[in-house]
Amino acid sequence: MRSRREMKVGTEQTALTEAIAAVRRAHAAKLMLCDRLEAIADSLPGGLDRRECLLAARALGPAMIKVHRFEEQHVYPHFAARLLQSAEARKTIARLKSEHCEDEGYAAELRDTLRATARRGRAENPETLGFMLRGFFGALRRHIAFERDHVMAQVAPDCEARD
Ligand SMILES: [Fe+2]
Repeated sequence: MRSRREMKVGTEQTALTEAIAAVRRAHAAKLMLCDRLEAIADSLPGGLDRRECLLAARALGPAMIKVHRFEEQHVYPHFAARLLQSAEARKTIARLKSEHCEDEGYAAELRDTLRATARRGRAENPETLGFMLRGFFGALRRHIAFERDHVMAQVAPDCEARD
């Protein structure tokens, strides 16, 4: 029979495995969003698809914020623990949280612009919109690559090896 401690460890491991799977799904969804945003940027100025703008705007909403909080609460603490709460781990987590915060502010701005663009049927300023889109998805892709290669690889090295 398993001891109470073994059961606790088993439950924690299951929770972590589920959290990792959830973050991996969220990363895949965010990378799809990046592709969608890139396609919108490439379509400027003449080939804008209003529906694509609305779908992208929707994906930039509260769901993104929820994923950020989830990573911060359910994955980052394990990353810090794996690195024995080192100063470097704390610095990395602070930077990733700050990137989340910046992305949320930028996403809100981009969402409003994409909605207005969809309503109008054209970009008010295609150059500015293109710049906003490329800045956003470029930063998001770098953030996800770092989380995958450093945070997830540290927290779940076996899972990452299967990619
Ligand atoms: Fe993140």
